[in-house]
Amino acid sequence: MTLNEIRSRYLAFFEARGHVVIPSSPLVPQNDPTTLFTGSGMQPLVPYLLGKNHPEGTRLVDSQKCFRSGDIEEVGDNRHTTFFEMFGNWSLGDYFKQEQLPWFFEFLTEELEIDPKRLYVTVFAGEPKYDIPKDDESVAIWQTLFSKHDIEAVAAEIGSEANGYQRGMKPGERIFYYDAKKNWWSRSGTPEHMPAGEPGGPDSEVFFEFPEIKHDPRWGEHCHPNCDCGHFVEIGNSVFMQYLKKEDGTFGLLPKQNVDFGGSLERINMAVSDSSDVFTINHEPILQLIEQLSHKTYTSNNSAETRAFRIIADHMKGATFLIASGVMPSNSDRGYFVRRLIRRSIMQADKLGISENSFSKVVEPIAKMYAEQYPDVLAQADSIAQTIEQEETRFRQTLSRGIKELARFAGQDKLSAQDAFQLFTTYGFPLELIIEEAGEKGIKQIDIEGFKELLKGHQELSRAGSEQKFKGGLADASQETTRLHTAHHLLLKALQMVLGPSVKQRGSNITGERLRIDFSFGQKMTPEQLAEVERIVNEIIEEDLPVIHSEMDKEEAEKLGAEHEFGAKYPERVSIYSVGPKGATPENPQIEKAFSLEFCGGPHVEHTGELGHFKIAKEEATSAGIRRIRAVLE
Ligand code: ALA
Repeated sequence: MTLNEIRSRYLAFFEARGHVVIPSSPLVPQNDPTTLFTGSGMQPLVPYLLGKNHPEGTRLVDSQKCFRSGDIEEVGDNRHTTFFEMFGNWSLGDYFKQEQLPWFFEFLTEELEIDPKRLYVTVFAGEPKYDIPKDDESVAIWQTLFSKHDIEAVAAEIGSEANGYQRGMKPGERIFYYDAKKNWWSRSGTPEHMPAGEPGGPDSEVFFEFPEIKHDPRWGEHCHPNCDCGHFVEIGNSVFMQYLKKEDGTFGLLPKQNVDFGGSLERINMAVSDSSDVFTINHEPILQLIEQLSHKTYTSNNSAETRAFRIIADHMKGATFLIASGVMPSNSDRGYFVRRLIRRSIMQADKLGISENSFSKVVEPIAKMYAEQYPDVLAQADSIAQTIEQEETRFRQTLSRGIKELARFAGQDKLSAQDAFQLFTTYGFPLELIIEEAGEKGIKQIDIEGFKELLKGHQELSRAGSEQKFKGGLADASQETTRLHTAHHLLLKALQMVLGPSVKQRGSNITGERLRIDFSFGQKMTPEQLAEVERIVNEIIEEDLPVIHSEMDKEEAEKLGAEHEFGAKYPERVSIYSVGPKGATPENPQIEKAFSLEFCGGPHVEHTGELGHFKIAKEEATSAGIRRIRAVLE
C-alpha cells in the first residue's frame, strides 16, 4: 500500500461514518500568534473544540501536514521525523469513546489488516489532584475489542517515570495505565502546565510492536509501550477532549465532549508494511538520491552514517514543505528553522563524504512523491530548489570562513569557552565542527562545559524574546489581537487599491502589539504609496463600517472575489468576513458592496471604529518579490 492509498482509505473510512473531509490547513498557522508551525491536526480546530459551531458539522476528518520544530534533535532514530502527515478525526460534541476506539481498531485491523496481536494500548491513570478519574471505561472497550480476536488483554498499572517504570510488563498484559505525563493531551502538555482557557483531556494511545527491535537497557531496565528504545511505536492517539483549565487553576468541563484523534500516516505505514524504519518506506526517493550522491548504501542499523541519511531525508523534506509554504531561510522566527534544517543536512552530508552543493536536487523527488496530495509543492519545485541552492552556497562559505578563523588558534593547547562561543555566534560554526576542526589543528582541549553555559544563557535570552513575541494574542491581549486582525484585512485591501490587484498576501503574523503582513510586490513602496495606504485604512476606520461574518459555499465565495490564501485548500463550506458597506447586517450582509472580503475564521471586531488610528511602522523586503509591512494601532 502506498502513502496515497492509506490516506484515501482513512478518509473514506471515516467519511462512511458520517464525517466531512476537510482540507489540510497551511503549515504556517494563519492568525494564530501562539505557535510558529502547525504541529497537530487539532490546532486549526481549537475554536471549535472550545464550543464554536463548525460550518461542516460535528464529524470531521482530515490528513494534516505538520512540522514539529521541537523534534529536530530527535531525528536519527527509527521513527522520529519533524515533517509528517497527521490523520485526524474529530467529534465536536458528537460521538465519544464508545465509537472512537472501536472505529480506530476496526480501521487498523480490518481496513488495513494489521495483526491485532501486535497492538498494545495505553489509558489515563487519573489525576486525583484535579479530580480527574482513571479511564476504566476505555479499558473495558479495549478488552471487548481484543476479545473478539480471542486475545485476553490484561490491564495493568505501569508506574511512573519517576520510579523508572520498574515493574515492567507481565505476560498477557496489553493495556497500561500511565499518568498525565504520557496519557493526557493538550497543546501545552500536562494539566499542571496548561494555561487558563486551554482545552485538554485524557487520551488512549495505540502502539505497534516490532519484535526484531530488541529492548535497549540504555532507556531503562524494562521495556514498556512508552519506552524510547523503538520496540514499540505509537501509531495513533485518541484524545477525549472534555476538560477546560479554569482561571482558578482547577478543571471544569468544556461545553461539549469532543474527540480529537491524531495518528501519523508515516507511522501507520510502518505498521502496514511491518517495517521498523520510518525512513525506508516514507523517504525512499530521497534516500536513493543520497545513495547516488554519496556512493554509500542506506541500511537500517544505528550507525552514524544511517543517522546522517535519516537526518538529511527528514530535514530536506521539512525544508521543502516549509519553503513551499512561504517560509524563507533567515535568522528570525520561522525562517531560522528552515536555515537550521538545511545547515544540519549539510553537516550530515559531510559525514557521508558529500562536499558539493547537492540539496537542490532533492526537491523534485519529494515534490513528485506528494504531487497528488500537494500539487502546490510540485508547482513551486524550481523556486524551492533555487532557495535551497542559495542557502547551501552561503552556509558552505560560512563554514570555510569559520575554518580559517579557527586556524588563528592553531598551536594553542586549549580553546576557551569564549573563543568557541564566538566562532559559534559570529560564524555560525556548530560545536560539533569546532571540536572536529580544533582536533585537526592540534588543539587538545576545548572548554565545552563553559561553552554550554554560555549557550544556555543565550538560548534563555532568545526564548524569552520569542515567548514575548508570540504570547500576545490569546494569552493576555486577545482584544488587541482582534483589532489588529481586522486592521490586517483593511490593509490588504488598501494595498491592492494602491499597488494593484495582483498584490496577494503571502504570510501574516499578529501579536497583541503589532501586525505583520507579507505580500507579493516587486519594489520598495514609495513614501507617497505608504501615506496613501495609511489614509485609506484610517478613512475606513472613521466610517465605522460593520464587520460581518457569513458562511457560504466555496464556489460562491470565489465568485464574489473573496481573498484567499495562496496555496491553501478550503472546504466546501467556508467562513467569510466582509467589511462594510454601511448599514450591512448579518441578516442582510450586502457582500457584493463590501469594502473587503476574505476567507477567514476570525475573530474580528464588530465595527471598524473600534480600531483607533492605524500607522505603518516599517516596510521592507523579505525575499525576492515579497515585501513585509509591520503596522500598529495607536
Ligand atoms: N492532538 C493529538 C496529538 O497531537 C491527537 O497527538
